[in-house]
Amino acid sequence: MNFKLNEEQKMLKEMVRHFAENEISPVAKELEQKREFPSTLIKKLAELGLMGMSVPEKYGGSETDSLSVSLVIEEISRVSPSLAVIFSVHSSLFCYSISKFGTEEQKRKYLPKAAEAKILGAFSLSESEAGSDATALKTSFVKKGDKYILNGIKTWVTSGKNANAFILFAKHKTASEKRKLSAFIVDKDSPGLKITKVEDKMGLHSSMTSEITLEDCEIPSSNILGNEGQGTKIAFHCLDYSRIGIASQSVGLASRCLEEAIKYSTQRQAFGKNISSFQTIQFKIADMSTQLDASRLLAYRAAYLADQGQPFSKESAMAKLFASEAANKIAYEALQIHGGYGYSKEFLIEQLYRDARALTIYEGTSEIQRIVISRYLLR
Ligand code: CAA
Repeated sequence: MNFKLNEEQKMLKEMVRHFAENEISPVAKELEQKREFPSTLIKKLAELGLMGMSVPEKYGGSETDSLSVSLVIEEISRVSPSLAVIFSVHSSLFCYSISKFGTEEQKRKYLPKAAEAKILGAFSLSESEAGSDATALKTSFVKKGDKYILNGIKTWVTSGKNANAFILFAKHKTASEKRKLSAFIVDKDSPGLKITKVEDKMGLHSSMTSEITLEDCEIPSSNILGNEGQGTKIAFHCLDYSRIGIASQSVGLASRCLEEAIKYSTQRQAFGKNISSFQTIQFKIADMSTQLDASRLLAYRAAYLADQGQPFSKESAMAKLFASEAANKIAYEALQIHGGYGYSKEFLIEQLYRDARALTIYEGTSEIQRIVISRYLLR
């Protein structure tokens, strides 16, 4: 068993660490506080060739292995969990789904621009009464000539306000079968599409999670992704893949929490000593580090399986479940180590603690991951 990254992966990780420290880190806190979308940073990620990591070379991307995508998400998340989820959705949901299920025409139309960040992509499945039970969604479509007409309200769309195009799921107006979804590529400027709300969230403030209203929204019939009725499989397959990214986002956030806890504990004095000299702090640090390593290994294994073309659905659910829960525990302990200062906005740990809370919820709650995992074991 080889636990080592190859030379290219090591260089990529170092390059992104350097970029994260020098370009993202200096502005990340202000973007969060001002609730500003990181448009400039996204352009810079494109200049580094990172926005096209899930885009084949033929369409202007670098089509890198999944483990490399995980490394990039981890490094970005270490300094900006908001930018990490924006990147992850663009790369692992939008670009990945078009690369995998798109027609030649769709690939040519969307992927080169997505690799250059001239198109930022998003993914729109959830609705107010269809979150975990995704196939209960109500957004409908009908075909009229060479157009599809969509009606409904989509919720919780990461980057919704700022994205240029969405992979959006709907069901046929007369569909009798609850589970049969269809997937569409919907441009932001389609007639009848409006961004009707930006969620006022607990954390991840520079990622603009939005509601989209479709009122007789018209899209070309050539913008269906896959065939009518194939959307359920597309949605669940793409989510299986992108959950590796959320595991990696969790790893990046948790690693920063651990770093901050170690730094603080080696500086903060109590009872005449650094608090790191107390066993109660040492044990916390040891447990946090062990959970972090286990999370990282689960994420890498899921990415490795995807790269080998082997089944990875159970393993990506395990990685997402474990890493997101661990990130919350690690953020909790890191804040605890900071004591009262951890509760102050002056210290980064306060933000990371809030940001971590989304990880066990989006792209399938922990409860959904347990359903996915247990189905593989019990079927
Ligand atoms: N890959 C491909 N196809 C799959 C699949 C997979 N992993 N899992 C199921 N399917 C197929 C099934 O074969 C079935 O196909 P047929 O109808 O042809 O038989 C169909 O999908 C329905 O499958 P199930 O009967 O198993 O579906 P279910 O309704 O019981 O639900 C579930 C299963 C796992 C609970 C699923 O609903 C699920 O994952 N829910 C969570 C949804 C989710 O993650 N939402 C997050 C949205 S994105 C987001 O967070 C916002 C963002 O911007 C980040």
